[in-house]
Amino acid sequence: MDAVILDWLNLGLRWAHLIAGIGWIGTSLYFMWLDAALIRTNLSRPDLEGYTWLLHSGGFYLVERRKLPPGQLPSPIHWFKWEAGMTFLTGFPLLVLVYYMTGGLYLVDPAVSSITPGWAAVVGVGLLIVSWAVYDQIWTSPLARGSGRPAVVVSWILLFAVVYGLTRVLSGRAAFIHVGAMLGTIMVANVWMRIIPAQKDLIASAEAGRTVDDTLSTRAKQRSTHNSYVTFPVIFMMLSHHYPALYAHPLNWLMLVLLIVAGAAVRQVMLARDKGKPTDWWLVPAAAALGVAVFLTSPAWLGGGAGGGDRVAFAAVKGVIERRCVSCHSRTPTDDVFKVAPNNVTFDAPESIRAHAETIRTRVVLLKNMPLANKTGITELERALLARWIAQGAALDGAPARP
Ligand code: HEC
Repeated sequence: MDAVILDWLNLGLRWAHLIAGIGWIGTSLYFMWLDAALIRTNLSRPDLEGYTWLLHSGGFYLVERRKLPPGQLPSPIHWFKWEAGMTFLTGFPLLVLVYYMTGGLYLVDPAVSSITPGWAAVVGVGLLIVSWAVYDQIWTSPLARGSGRPAVVVSWILLFAVVYGLTRVLSGRAAFIHVGAMLGTIMVANVWMRIIPAQKDLIASAEAGRTVDDTLSTRAKQRSTHNSYVTFPVIFMMLSHHYPALYAHPLNWLMLVLLIVAGAAVRQVMLARDKGKPTDWWLVPAAAALGVAVFLTSPAWLGGGAGGGDRVAFAAVKGVIERRCVSCHSRTPTDDVFKVAPNNVTFDAPESIRAHAETIRTRVVLLKNMPLANKTGITELERALLARWIAQGAALDGAPARP
């Protein structure tokens, strides 16, 4: 497809996906907050389950949570059901566009596994389908009875196993986004297959004046609680492609596990209550997980390039960059996919190579996610040569080394 059309499709889907997602997550956070904030004492009416006053923009709002009198359904009644569906309908094509229609560039990484782009796409789409089936089975099985502890434990173990497994098969970037897409798909399926049917039953029962089937609404509540645990982690995964220091890290699976833990712990701080009191102590595991993640990205853990050995001539560096980088990073790229320099970073001028020395070290030496998917076949010796040149001060020939 024409690069310009691809770009516009990408922008259009991304824009719509973000708006739908904000609408969805916004309403679910709002209702979870509302449930926690409702005043439930001194209720004067038997049908009233809680109420609160709100102030927003130019007015006061009174929100009441009520039991409906049998046989009476208010009209119109708004239920928030399209936000989740729209998020999926814009997100899935975006996944296809970015990951399955770019020749495997973002999807696979020869340094990770030798899977072909075609099979990687099968793994990706298969994961979305199978994971929902497995998850739904677990949560309708005896494991989920009573407190549901066994189901909780099995679900977390499976999630972390998927994280580990995917990072061994797909490129780091694709692994992160596919874990996010998997959780996002489960969230949407929870809404459409479990929560909305329960709400339909609520409505039908209210209309018919019969009592509500409790199992359906308990399951709906349980599923929306699950969604709340993975919301913040999923949002991170959706943004993660901006952060190669995480997805291209040698321990990227651990990075993702740590960020999932941090996101779920923040959810606890916001929503979990212990005998009606907030559970602020969850900030400790959240901070600990983030702290470990930050440490793992530090030079103290990753190490730097060694500066020893013979002095590297800039001409040698320029040779590597010309062979391995300028097909994309140039004012006149020759790559079949990238018709403009990615991130507007070009290496045509020696000065510009030097100016980017630090990011080149990060991407080429430490994270090794450049050249992208190693499309140009850089060797370990060439990476080491760049590392030595940068550690020696990244000097252009004739110019003094940086202090
Ligand atoms: C096949 C095309 C391609 C090749 C070849 C390639 N890159 Fe990149 N590069 C990209 C893309 C796409 C991005 C933007 C996505 C990203 O940041 O991961 C990028 C981003 C970068 C960045 C980050 C720029 C910023 O905004 O911080 C650096 C640094 C970089 N590349 C260095 C290199 C070096 C050095 C080489 C050669 C050893 C190289 N790249 C080869 C496609 C390529």
